[in-house]
Amino acid sequence: MKTPPPLRIGDLVIDPPILQAPMAGFTNAAFREIVRGFGGAGLLATEMVNARGFVWLDEHEAEHPDRLWGVAEEARPLAVQIWDNDPETMAKVGRRLAEEYRVSVVDINFGCPVRQVTEKAHSGSYLLREPKRMHAIISQLVKACAPTPVTAKIRLGCSPESVNCNEVAQVVEEAGAAALTVHGRTAKDMFRGNADWDRISEIKSHLRNIPLIGNGDLDSAEKVVAAFENYDVDGVMIARACLGKPWLFAQAAAALRGEPIPPDPTMQQQRDVMLNHYKLVVDRFGEEKGTVLMRKYACCYAQGKHGARFFRMHVAKVSSAEEFYAVVDEYFPVIDNRERVMS
Ligand SMILES: Cc1cc2nc3c(=O)[nH]c(=O)nc-3n(C[C@H](O)[C@H](O)[C@H](O)COP(=O)(O)O)c2cc1C
Repeated sequence: MKTPPPLRIGDLVIDPPILQAPMAGFTNAAFREIVRGFGGAGLLATEMVNARGFVWLDEHEAEHPDRLWGVAEEARPLAVQIWDNDPETMAKVGRRLAEEYRVSVVDINFGCPVRQVTEKAHSGSYLLREPKRMHAIISQLVKACAPTPVTAKIRLGCSPESVNCNEVAQVVEEAGAAALTVHGRTAKDMFRGNADWDRISEIKSHLRNIPLIGNGDLDSAEKVVAAFENYDVDGVMIARACLGKPWLFAQAAAALRGEPIPPDPTMQQQRDVMLNHYKLVVDRFGEEKGTVLMRKYACCYAQGKHGARFFRMHVAKVSSAEEFYAVVDEYFPVIDNRERVMS
């Protein structure tokens, strides 16, 4: 295939056009440092940050949310994702992120399907049923953040019966957003079924100028290439698959350049990546909290590997560095699935 051109978000050039998705509880500074180390992700993103919570912390002179850990200092480009339903609050936080934190992109979450965000706070994917409010949020944020670009991340609609992504896409563009990311499921679907890439592709004809970024189920370099080939997207975003495979971006980027796809790191190397990740988490949160936090990342690194079940069972209980290293030594899968097939 022809290598897709870099993605343009406002004046920002995203090259390669492969984005690391925001994932609450996962895509913190430690994870982003690991992803950056492998390369291949053109734009990285934080977890979603609640705008109202941010303002509250500010007013009470408390520390900024953990979710902004590292953001002020780390490499760019970097997107910070925020959520809420009040245009003024969103604008206030957006301005701070643009002016003080100097982030590259302020992204708005219009896709979160979790009850706490939708039913309780009328935010995230709940707003897909209120395009007028979406317009108000985006346009005020765009004004407040300029010249920093504002982007929106949506799902196809609230439910399969109320898919309205084509209409929403137009609202997003008209309100001044610089790019649109679409996860090809509805909120009601949560993560069930397959992402509907035909629907994602259809949105392209409803946008005039801004780029379309497709998201959903991309878990290999080959699928990334196929997304560009078949679905008319300007960029792609990868979420779950990169949690245990932060090198996936580099593999996808090579494939887009028409180069051979680099093999997965050996199991020894993967283990070292995980240990480095652990160190970053413990440096920030201390041994006890860091070890507990690391349980879920460690499970991701083992996913799909021969013997992963035992590792997961044991690592889910560790609460000190000593226990963590002992479980890694004993149970982290050492035989690669490929080697197993060959032996
Ligand atoms: C644990 C987890 C946390 C997520 N948190 C966010 C979030 O904070 N903001 C957001 O826009 N999407 C969030 N998502 C959705 C992903 O960004 C992405 O849209 C979705 O997982 C589909 O992509 P995938 O098939 O590549 O995983 C989250 C997904 C997961 C699995």
